[in-house]
Amino acid sequence: MHDIVKDYYGKELQSSLDLKTTACCDPSAVPDYLKPLLANIHPEVLSRYYGCGLVAPEKLKGCRVLDLGCGTGRDVYLLSQLVGPEGEVIGIDMTEEQLHLAESYMDYHAEKFGYRNVSFVRGLIERLDEIGLALNSFDVIISNCVINLTLDKQAVLSGIMKLLKNGGEFYFSDVYADRRVPHILQHDPVLYGECLGGALYWNDFRRVAQKAGFMDPRLVSDHSITVTDPVLKRKIGPIRFFSATYRLFNINELEDACENHGQAVIFKGSIDTSPDIFVLDKHHSIERNKIFPVCGNTYRMLRDSRFSEDFEFLGTFDNHFGIFEGCGSDLPFNDASVKENSCC
Ligand SMILES: C[S@@+](CC[C@H](N)C(=O)[O-])C[C@H]1O[C@@H](n2cnc3c(N)ncnc32)[C@H](O)[C@@H]1O
Repeated sequence: MHDIVKDYYGKELQSSLDLKTTACCDPSAVPDYLKPLLANIHPEVLSRYYGCGLVAPEKLKGCRVLDLGCGTGRDVYLLSQLVGPEGEVIGIDMTEEQLHLAESYMDYHAEKFGYRNVSFVRGLIERLDEIGLALNSFDVIISNCVINLTLDKQAVLSGIMKLLKNGGEFYFSDVYADRRVPHILQHDPVLYGECLGGALYWNDFRRVAQKAGFMDPRLVSDHSITVTDPVLKRKIGPIRFFSATYRLFNINELEDACENHGQAVIFKGSIDTSPDIFVLDKHHSIERNKIFPVCGNTYRMLRDSRFSEDFEFLGTFDNHFGIFEGCGSDLPFNDASVKENSCC
């Protein structure tokens, strides 16, 4: 399968227009502050972007970031500008052609940004320990439409956990199915290359994440995927696929469910790119200066991460009031399809 994927992204696809589904294609609304940064990126890099979501979390200045399956480097060059000259972004990919193109524009972007803070490495993300990266050294790890293409998702998630600092996060977009994808479809080369065949059933993803130590994966955004090609459409039948962005914090004390300790937080409005509302995830849009009740896990995600100075924290872990209301287990994604031609 690795060779099929390398061939698909290295040789077969020439640009995002060659895709047969909207899986590796990102309809996310780009916030205004990112638009000029995207405009600084070379058009050839942009034309070979195959991501499925926006992987630019808040507050990256000075961070050390790793991009897993960076392709031709669109997100590396975007985040290079967000981390600034004090930060660093490293991109990893296994496909020679993708990396070659990414590297060929390093000087172009260094000149454009006025500093050089990116590097690219060839390697398999199932074997992150063989790449020579220091353990516990990354503030943020990102990935855009890649984990579904990997053969051992557990190894990827466990490797990420080892590379993240305490309080660091894995913020990534990927493709998920509403059920387990049958074996025969998992081995279909086009479905695999198009990011559908290897997609995890969303609840299995939660299990893999929890086994790696990410006890409370948080869904940030999602959209359903449109399969436009009639042959592929027939093959997948009733299976529904979604692109989703999750954030996973490396915080030891997180529990596998949201417990209510009667706590709350207050957002100070101190994040310059979102001074009015901080969006932690799909269920937490936290308004400035408002007392916002949270479960123990949310409290810890904000207190024990790079966001700690942006909040006031009310309450302790001394009391327990049962499960936090709304801690659900149904299909977490919205089923409204992306309109055809809305992207790519
Ligand atoms: C759908 S593309 C996404 C590329 C990039 N993230 C973007 O947004 O444009 C998938 C990328 O993941 C890389 N990839 C797939 N499996 C990989 C693996 N096991 N290890 C390293 N890279 C991998 C492919 O070479 C390809 O460049």
